[in-house]
Amino acid sequence: MIYSYYPCGGLPMAELSTERHIQQLREEIDGHNHRYYVLDDPVVSDAHYDDLMNRLRELEADYPELVTPDSPTQRVGASPLEGFDEVEHPSPMLSLANAFDTDQLRAWHKRAQDLLEGAGFDMVCELKIDGLAVALTYEDGRLARGATRGDGLRGEDVTSNLRTIKSIPLLVRGNGVPRRFEVRGEVYFPKSGFLKLNEERVSQGEAPYANPRNTAAGSLRQLDPRITASRPLDIFVYALGYAEDGAAPDTHWAILEYLKDLGFKTNPANAVCSTLEEVEAYYRDWLERKESLDYGVDGAVVKIDPLSYQRHLGSVGREPRWAIAYKFPATQEITRLLDIRINVGRTGSLNPYAVLEPVNVGGATVKMATLHNEDDIRRKDIRVNDWVVVERAGEVIPQVVGPVVSRRSGEEFEFEMPPHCPVCDTPTARPEGEAMTYCFNTVCPAQFARLFMHFVSRGAMDIEGMGERLALAVIDAELVKDVGDLYSITAEQLLTLERMGEKSAGNLMKSIEMSKERPLPNIIYALGIRHVGYETADALVRHFGSMDSIAQACEEELTSVPGVGPKVAQSIAAHFAQESSRAVIEKLRRAGVQLESGVAAQDGSSRPLAGLQMVVTGRLDAMSRSQAEDRIKELGGSVGSSVSKKTRFLVVGEGSGSKLDQAQKLGTEILDEARFLKLLERSLVEEAAS
Ligand code: IVH
Repeated sequence: MIYSYYPCGGLPMAELSTERHIQQLREEIDGHNHRYYVLDDPVVSDAHYDDLMNRLRELEADYPELVTPDSPTQRVGASPLEGFDEVEHPSPMLSLANAFDTDQLRAWHKRAQDLLEGAGFDMVCELKIDGLAVALTYEDGRLARGATRGDGLRGEDVTSNLRTIKSIPLLVRGNGVPRRFEVRGEVYFPKSGFLKLNEERVSQGEAPYANPRNTAAGSLRQLDPRITASRPLDIFVYALGYAEDGAAPDTHWAILEYLKDLGFKTNPANAVCSTLEEVEAYYRDWLERKESLDYGVDGAVVKIDPLSYQRHLGSVGREPRWAIAYKFPATQEITRLLDIRINVGRTGSLNPYAVLEPVNVGGATVKMATLHNEDDIRRKDIRVNDWVVVERAGEVIPQVVGPVVSRRSGEEFEFEMPPHCPVCDTPTARPEGEAMTYCFNTVCPAQFARLFMHFVSRGAMDIEGMGERLALAVIDAELVKDVGDLYSITAEQLLTLERMGEKSAGNLMKSIEMSKERPLPNIIYALGIRHVGYETADALVRHFGSMDSIAQACEEELTSVPGVGPKVAQSIAAHFAQESSRAVIEKLRRAGVQLESGVAAQDGSSRPLAGLQMVVTGRLDAMSRSQAEDRIKELGGSVGSSVSKKTRFLVVGEGSGSKLDQAQKLGTEILDEARFLKLLERSLVEEAAS
């Protein structure tokens, strides 16, 4: 198989060994991936792993003809899609009947036993993972297709997205691998990753996601696989859909073992139980321990083990008689919504939250719940004093599901976003097209505490020794009123703080001093501008070269930076338009903080595509649409989202629609992919020559 790329045979020796070398590296890397992502038991350091990956990447860059889709370097290879294809499942993806108590479980067991005429059987107990079901099809050992469950009969082809999940093998090696087989399992968003993603979103001024399950589903349905790849999705497999010419285990437990041996991730919590008492014990044990898991579970799934018995029992509609979901008690309760209050985030977002009459929800006392944003409160028609349904979805943050309208007494009233910041009293505003209302006063004390902690944090100014407690103490003692004041703190002032010794004060002064040399992208990032993460900060610096040029740039200029769209540009321009922001920059300058990048800015006006607005539509072969847009911007052009009179060229890929019609109407020049690539090439030559 290894030599099949050269059907004519006859390779020079050097090539042959390169090919083998690549093959060996891939096997070694796949082995480490399996240990890390599937078994959670790595045997090499990250550095060693990175080194192997880099060697493979270099070899593949030198020998692009040897790159195959199952190489570990190719998890994110695909370009964004315009939509998903529909996939018909070879056999329906079933759902499960529920048992909510022990009587219902016993009734299910008795019915099965009666139908099996009293024969005894083992049962496999699994956890019911709170995610979404997928089917993975392998052909000749390669992951050929991955689909969502959809309605059970038809799902969506999300292969490029599933390929980005590292615990899904792209290649299954070994003897006896069926020529074609389908594995089914549950994709989920780990709780820890979900909390982290939401923290990042909130710190960027975005509304947090509601729960891990919906976020997992949303991540799998992204048209751009790079977005899916940035999410830490994971999977547990729990069934073999079918297998052609392969091993045929005769129990469900043997299937789980078989899938594990092939390299799939099965749940270590799976267990065989021979009596209903053991099933009950399994259930109680996990009911108590489920909070310790890094994924949400909503019950146990009990499956009758022998496959011959499963076949005999069959299904009723879409629900098999041989399996049941033994659900954990509801994680929803009803309580009184006492008040809706506001928490002011680092970027000034006014985040509403519910103050509840304390209630026990699935074993934990809930006193507060997130309410996301104004529209969400309106859509759900949640009013202060309502009786509300509270849920701990995916076991993470409590949510208010909605009001119990029938219990309204007339004392309820609608919530209004405060017109003034509840902390500093500055008028608030909700920018057009955004979900959140903001306090734009960058020196608002509530925002400022968070902003200051962000400013000194690692990745930003990285002031070692300035932890959260000390940062708050510095603010309380009024040593700083804005982040620029950090550089006028004296050692004497630090010594007035509680528990601050000479040595720590000295060390802190040293690290403040050292931070003046931080690279410019860190400084821009440290300013905590809404929607400006580190990558955007870095792109801004590459383009403009200095803090002053960025601060003076208008929105249009800002949008010509790769990765900066109108929303981000507006946020940057609004930030620097403020008197208080300028004052901070002046303080930094006076303190001697490095505000130039040291790298000459790429002056847009002299670049080959300067002044040209282009629009890209459809699917390109050579690169993704956003890559194409970035290339245009790198060459000095700007990118529009719709075709207008200003558009100089419309680049069309496969499957373009209304934009093409519009361009034809306006007589805009149309470039197919080949001509577009030529234009890029020519521009690059021009740029190199200048
Ligand atoms: S077995 C009969 N096992 O629950 C086979 N399903 O309500 C049906 N699920 O669509 C699937 N964890 O998305 C099975 N260990 C597990 C599961 C599980 C979660 C989900 C799956 C399915 C739904 C059925």
